[in-house]
Amino acid sequence: MASVTPDASQVEALIERLREIDPIAAAEPERIRVVHAPGRVNLIGEHTDYNDGFVLPAAIDLGVTIALVPTDDRRVQLTLAADDDRDGFDLDAVGPRTGRWIDYIAGTAWALAGSGISTRGFRGLLVSDLPSGAGLSSSAAIELASAWALAGGDRPEVDPIRLAQIAQRAENEYVGVNSGLMDQFAVACGRADHALFLDCRSLEYRAVRLPPGVSLVICHSGAPRKLAASEYNARRADCDRAVAAFSMIDPGVRALRDVTPELLAAGRDLLDDVAFRRARHVVSEDGRVLDTLAAMQIGDLPAVGDTLRASHVSLRDDFEVSSPALDALVAIAALVPGVIGARLTGAGFGGCTINLVHDDAVALLVEAVADQYASRTGLTPRTYVVHAAEGARRID
Ligand code: GLA
Repeated sequence: MASVTPDASQVEALIERLREIDPIAAAEPERIRVVHAPGRVNLIGEHTDYNDGFVLPAAIDLGVTIALVPTDDRRVQLTLAADDDRDGFDLDAVGPRTGRWIDYIAGTAWALAGSGISTRGFRGLLVSDLPSGAGLSSSAAIELASAWALAGGDRPEVDPIRLAQIAQRAENEYVGVNSGLMDQFAVACGRADHALFLDCRSLEYRAVRLPPGVSLVICHSGAPRKLAASEYNARRADCDRAVAAFSMIDPGVRALRDVTPELLAAGRDLLDDVAFRRARHVVSEDGRVLDTLAAMQIGDLPAVGDTLRASHVSLRDDFEVSSPALDALVAIAALVPGVIGARLTGAGFGGCTINLVHDDAVALLVEAVADQYASRTGLTPRTYVVHAAEGARRID
């Protein structure tokens, strides 16, 4: 079973701390609630979400937790447990973004209101065990935890996929990052012990049981993500350019999702080299997600490993979002017996790799990374053994 983050004593400590720092919480401790939203790791299907394609992420047991007491004064006030930094805003006068962490909460309130969903004020305390800037969706976790906090700590009155879209709108239009739906989807809809297969066009999804005896190991490269937002937007523009060219051959093409391998080949001479390689990544990655699903269904783990490896190569050579540090982590993992497959996860440009590892080989991988990575790269790695977890929820 997936473990619960955080455990009961940590929840107690968080509630206690909120009572210490907030007079409303101190006066009415019985009204305190605690909500949690997980981070996510993507098994496969990278840079496919904004191309109407397929993704296979899982929510994980690292995430963002908010202890809160709902109020009727339309005021949101939140403190970060890490450094006691405090910020807030009025629900009826959410201003423009500030460039601070509060933007994720204010943006979520703004997007909920824009969808006609009622919100409540609260006083809260936020704690996170998700490394930020690591590509594990800490921003989506803050957004979804906020959505629950803004619903007074209860389940928001909207289905989880719609809630994910609202959080994505906060990210795109308020925070100003042009991401796809995958992160908010995984954080909202996660299921313990399962990955989630999402068709980003129809928005149909299903939970896919992870193979027994296999662990998810995340290796953090320790390298800050460089130019992630501008490079991400540049990749989106490359994909749009490719779509425009393919739609000249076949007017039915609305997104790279519609490009078949045959059409891809026909486009080779029509597209500039960069747009062609971006398209080749997306078209082949969609195929690899389906291949991974099929292989998981019949328990063919070596085939799953092949798709993960091929995904990394394609992200490295065609989509060009890897880094020497991520390549080193993948190379180290490739030589560890019992590692099924490894690839970069998330947007790339630094951040983490995901490793599918037979349970009895986890220690070997952790050791290999500890022994070899720093001397190869000069960077300090961090490894996390995670479990697929439930999506955003109340945990008190
Ligand atoms: C980031 C974005 C997602 C997705 C991935 C790449 O995590 O937020 O929407 O595009 O990059 O797969």
